[in-house]
Amino acid sequence: MRIWLDGGLQDIESARVSVFDHGLTVGDGIFETVKAVDGRPFALTRHLDRLTRSARGLGLPEPDHDEVRRACAAVIEANPMPLGRLRITYTGGHGPLGSDRGEHGPTLVVALGETTRRPDATAAITVPWTRNERGALTGLKTTSYAENVVALARARQHDATEALFGNTVGQLCEGTGSNVFVVLDGEIHTPPLASGCLAGITRALTIEWTGAKETDLPLDVLERAEEVFLTSTLRDVQALRRVDERELPGSAGPVTAKAVRIFDERSGEDLDP
Ligand SMILES: Cc1ncc(COP(=O)(O)O)c(C=O)c1O
Repeated sequence: MRIWLDGGLQDIESARVSVFDHGLTVGDGIFETVKAVDGRPFALTRHLDRLTRSARGLGLPEPDHDEVRRACAAVIEANPMPLGRLRITYTGGHGPLGSDRGEHGPTLVVALGETTRRPDATAAITVPWTRNERGALTGLKTTSYAENVVALARARQHDATEALFGNTVGQLCEGTGSNVFVVLDGEIHTPPLASGCLAGITRALTIEWTGAKETDLPLDVLERAEEVFLTSTLRDVQALRRVDERELPGSAGPVTAKAVRIFDERSGEDLDP
């Protein structure tokens, strides 16, 4: 396996980042997960734009899109696989042990892992912890993901693959690594960005392609929605068959099934929508 680090490809066994990297010591970094299908990245332009928005939000130097594109292409070419999870990580770089940032400049790592297409339907739980819709990091895709690690571990204990959060005012927000959509009276709704959720790229495409509405939704909408589905880079559109103790339509309900179909078609037509 060869990854991109410090401006070029390196073997994973010998590639080294400082043990004082601010991404490691304090979680001062941002990332993107990009789907690579048959050696081609999906929606890379949108991912690079979000990487830049996250960098601005953290006050990191803006990433050089040409370099990141070259890095992605090189890593994909060096590691052929049918379905890959391309991971772009960009941190504050070598720095002091506290929260002040150092002068060394950022670290860029691009790596690739093999993955398989997600199952058509899955289960999720809700967790009692909240997303903060007013935090300094709200809406940024930072490497400070330990809350998601804890929530996802809780989901696994309940035979679920995702944990859903409400925000501080009790509204539905998002999952640890996905956005959430509900069907009410046959119409698709998803929480607005003001709920504190990440501006998911799959979410944006799903809104564009299905006409889903952005609506403030109380967390308990999950107890009455006709259908619920998740969106993310690696899930695409994925039906939920269970939320907590509540069973939902076996495979995908009709509205979700249609959204899955539309997403598959449109994303197959254009690799950089
Ligand atoms: C917290 C969070 N919400 C939502 C998403 C979905 O975003 P995307 O569709 O861009 O993968 C992610 C990313 O994987 C995420 O980490």
